[in-house]
Order: sequence, then C-alpha cells, then structure tokens
Amino acid sequence: MPEKKIIVAIDGHSSCGKSTMAKWLAKEVGYIYVDTGAMYRTVTLFALRNKFITQEGIDEEGLKASLKDVEVSFQLDPETNLPLACLNGEVVEKEIRLMEVSNNVSPIAALPFVREKLTREQQFMGEAKGIVMDGRDIGTAVFPQAELKIFVTASAQVRAQRRYDELVGKGEKNLDFDEILRNVEERDYIDSHREMNPLRQAEDALVLDNSNLTKDEQNAWLLSQFKKRTEA
Ligand code: DC
Repeated sequence: MPEKKIIVAIDGHSSCGKSTMAKWLAKEVGYIYVDTGAMYRTVTLFALRNKFITQEGIDEEGLKASLKDVEVSFQLDPETNLPLACLNGEVVEKEIRLMEVSNNVSPIAALPFVREKLTREQQFMGEAKGIVMDGRDIGTAVFPQAELKIFVTASAQVRAQRRYDELVGKGEKNLDFDEILRNVEERDYIDSHREMNPLRQAEDALVLDNSNLTKDEQNAWLLSQFKKRTEA
C-alpha cells in the first residue's frame, strides 16, 4: 500500500529554527519544502527596490497595483537541492536574508492583499500534499486541515543569538546583538498582533520549545510525530 501523503505545517516565532527542522524533515522523508517567510521577504525586496517603502512609510496603493507583476517562485539549488527564492525568475535568496529586508518584512506581511496573494499560492503548492511548509499561519489559515501541525518556540535571547551566529556565518560584519534582539522582539509583536492571520498556535498543534534541545533530539521527535501520522 502506498504510504499516506500528508501536509506538515510548522509555525512559530522568528529564528526559532523552524526552517532548519522543516528542511531536514522534507529531505528525510522525500517531501517538498516551502519556506513561506521567504515569499514574504521576496515581496518586501520587491517593495524596497521599487521604492514602495520609504522613510515616510509604505505606499500601499502603489504596491497593491504592482503586485500582479510580482512572481514569487523557487528554484532548486543544483548543489544542495534546496529551494532558492526567486523574484520574477531572479534568484534573490541572499538579498532577502539581509537586515534591510528583515527590518521591513513584518509590516509588508501584515498587508491583507499581500497575504491573500501568497496564501493562495501556498495552498496551490500543497494541493498534492507531500509537503512541509513553515511560516506563521500555515496550521491556522493556509492549511487548517494539515495532518501534522507543530508550533515551535524558544526564548527571544536564544533566537537572537541564533540569528547573530547565522549572520556572522554568512560573513556580515559590524553586527549589533541588541539590534538583532530588538528586531526579533519587534517582529514577534507585529506578527502576533496584526489583524489578518496573526501568529498563533493552532488548537491542534503540538508545541515544541527547543531552547534546550539539540538538533538531533529535535529531529528524532519530529520524525516520530511524522511517522505516527503517516503509518497509522
Ligand atoms: O520566517 P521568516 O523570519 O523568514 O519570516 C519573515 C517574515 O514574514 C516574518 O516577520 C513574518 C512573516 N511571515 C508571515 O507573516 N507569514 C508566514 N506564513 C511566514 C512569514
């Protein structure tokens, strides 16, 4: 009998290792991995490049009118086999991880017309199941019917340290830990308080606080939860 294909929804705060665990699981079980944060970041990059975000704020009308010209997609990296975010066919994986995008993404992700567009695209990607998707509203709004929902969290300090280490690893210089911590806390606040599909734990989600877990412990737990759902 073919194994049952499911949707795995991984939601949680920023920088709590959602994408690392989602990528690992997708590879381990041969599922497609979709990083929905990368999609919001790609729209933010588009908005920055086209000056819809300025000192004065966001030009919502301008962005809304241009959004039909924005194609967010993923290309597989031939070396790592991991998806790379693309903006109208251009690989922008590096640019979308820079601080300028991180500092502007939450207000862009709060705009209902942005969420509507990206939610529709995410639902389309998951139609055939066999997908691990990470984000903030996957288990609550994108796939409320997902068979396995995980809500990941860790303390803000631990998450800021992880982001700091990640940026250092990428060669970013002159980093200010306090600025990163502020960015993590600010994004938590905006993501949890926006009107449309805020970050919240789905009632049927399993909660994972990984502040004190090793990657191996976390992965073993995740795989056992996946097996429970697919081997039943
Ligand atoms: O996971 P991340 O840090 O790359 O996400 C970037 C931003 O996008 C984050 O501030 C919240 C937003 N986001 C969202 O609102 N909904 C999602 N499904 C994924 C991300």
